[in-house]
Amino acid sequence: MISGGGSNMVKLVESMSGDHPARPCLVLSNIAGAGGLDKADALGVETATVAHKNFATREAFEEALHARLEQSRPDIICLAGFMRILTAGFVSKWEGRMLNIHPSLLPKYQGLNTHQRAIDAGDSLHGCSIHEVTALLDDGPIWGQATVRVQKEDTAEVLANRVLVQEHKLYPEVLRKFAAAQQG
Ligand code: GRF
Repeated sequence: MISGGGSNMVKLVESMSGDHPARPCLVLSNIAGAGGLDKADALGVETATVAHKNFATREAFEEALHARLEQSRPDIICLAGFMRILTAGFVSKWEGRMLNIHPSLLPKYQGLNTHQRAIDAGDSLHGCSIHEVTALLDDGPIWGQATVRVQKEDTAEVLANRVLVQEHKLYPEVLRKFAAAQQG
């Protein structure tokens, strides 16, 4: 599930081949026309949009989201640059089968603006985490982390791009482990 450019989604889709235990079944965006949708099309993966702004309530949006996902019957959901907070009601239907990538070394810096917060705190290390999605924001069991060094002249944008490189390596590795564990 994406909301924007889908660079993490591309890496995930490209990684699912050969002996990888998973295959992509759908790329779903909550934003119509998100750049990642064209990338998914080019990769031959089915796409769908469930635009949250078309729904009066969060619950109505999530009901439509769940219904569309059910059509594709995924075994695993990967949130990749998906920028909506999901309610406990929605998460409870997929708990244990949903991963998210968060650009910080959780449990540090849950929520937004993680790179600026790491710079402001004077951290020498920063990075990204992949965790199971639970009802609490950015709080579920962690399946993998990658670290980067913070340079003193870093801006949030420079640091974010350095973290993104690690995200692109980490997420496919974690998905392979998670899918293999799910298959038992
Ligand atoms: C990334 O910075 C990631 O940390 C966050 O969403 C951003 C965009 O990801 N989760 P993508 O390029 O859309 O995969």
